[in-house]
Amino acid sequence: MRLDVVSIFPDYLAPLDLSLIGRARRDGLLDVRVHDLRDFTHDRHRTVDDTPYGGGAGMVMKPEPWAEALDSVVASGDSGAVPHLIVPGPGGVPFTQALARSLAAEPWLAFACGRYEGIDERVYEHAAARMPVTVVSLGDYVLNGGEVAVLAMVEAVARLLPGVIGNAESLVEESHEDGLLEYPVYTKPASWTDGGVVRDVPSVLLSGDHGAIAAWRHTQRLARTAARRPDLLPVSGALTPEGLAEVELRPATPGDVGELLTLTHACWLKEGIANETLRVPAMHETVSSMAASLGEWQTWVLRSGGRLVGTVRGRVAGEGDWYVGRLGVAPDLQGRGVGRWLLARIEELAPEGTRRLVLTTGAKSEGNLRMYKKAGYRIVGRDDPVGTVELAKPLRR
Ligand SMILES: C[S@@+](CC[C@H](N)C(=O)[O-])C[C@H]1O[C@@H](n2cnc3c(N)ncnc32)[C@H](O)[C@@H]1O
Repeated sequence: MRLDVVSIFPDYLAPLDLSLIGRARRDGLLDVRVHDLRDFTHDRHRTVDDTPYGGGAGMVMKPEPWAEALDSVVASGDSGAVPHLIVPGPGGVPFTQALARSLAAEPWLAFACGRYEGIDERVYEHAAARMPVTVVSLGDYVLNGGEVAVLAMVEAVARLLPGVIGNAESLVEESHEDGLLEYPVYTKPASWTDGGVVRDVPSVLLSGDHGAIAAWRHTQRLARTAARRPDLLPVSGALTPEGLAEVELRPATPGDVGELLTLTHACWLKEGIANETLRVPAMHETVSSMAASLGEWQTWVLRSGGRLVGTVRGRVAGEGDWYVGRLGVAPDLQGRGVGRWLLARIEELAPEGTRRLVLTTGAKSEGNLRMYKKAGYRIVGRDDPVGTVELAKPLRR
């Protein structure tokens, strides 16, 4: 892959000679060419900026040196070939792993590092007449110049090129590759005494049971993503259950516990009556037990117009089983397909390696039994003293 970078601080790009990217250059996998924008000026002071039209603070980068620099980059390529020009800028499209992957598939990228208040807008028009141009932002903050952004983007793109990273498998299991953050990682020693505190590696990782390890890692990925980046989790806006406005499905947080408890009591009171029992665990849930359960289950809450109207949760139980629980819909909204919709969402969240979806309901909960059977579940067990049945269905993806 060829990379051209134009900057008024070419030395800023020196780290591209180091580490894996430096080695990729030496191995011929990357052809990196850094150009000094000032080489394309023609005055004694090598001027690249001037005051903004319309007034305002700061300076703007002049169009002529930029146009000349970009034309010279294009002219240095094979006849007919043009680079994809990336212009770093806080007003650009967000730089993501998906964008890095798509850029990694291109043969030639060029980067234009702005400084000051940015580059005269006519340079974008000049460039767009010659090559594809994308303005790309590293994040919602402002840097002094594009060079740091280019270093980050080049590293993220180049490490995806075949041969740049020794173990290609390590690329697949990383954060953002499938929309989730990575699970926590550990190395030796298995038990580390940290100034008097013993810190053990989670025992499942020492078990040698690959299915259990994969299930644990998936649960950790969901939990970590829910805690740190809930915005990454699927919201399925297009699959909104009918008749509900402004629906949002997201992982439950401690802030949801109060309403979740109220909804749980309202839903399971009905189940208790149908099954003529008070021995329904959901009826005995308290604020603290509910809060604690958020650490043990992947619990989801459905809000409509701000109101909490539904919930469902799942967890790995036994090798290959994804246990679905506490599927509840506000009593006044039942019978509209919201429960079926929630069931489908929690089934989608079953981790890799799941072979069976399992759930329990009251033996006399006729509405629930009808819904689960319609969704493909069959009764696989009964607990007569408690009055519950276990249902399961194979998961086919
Ligand atoms: C001080 S910034 C200019 C900010 C510009 N006036 C604005 O408000 O959008 C100077 C240069 O830093 C780079 N830059 C700043 N923040 C960036 C970000 N979040 N992502 C990518 N590049 C950024 C761009 O090259 C930009 O031209």
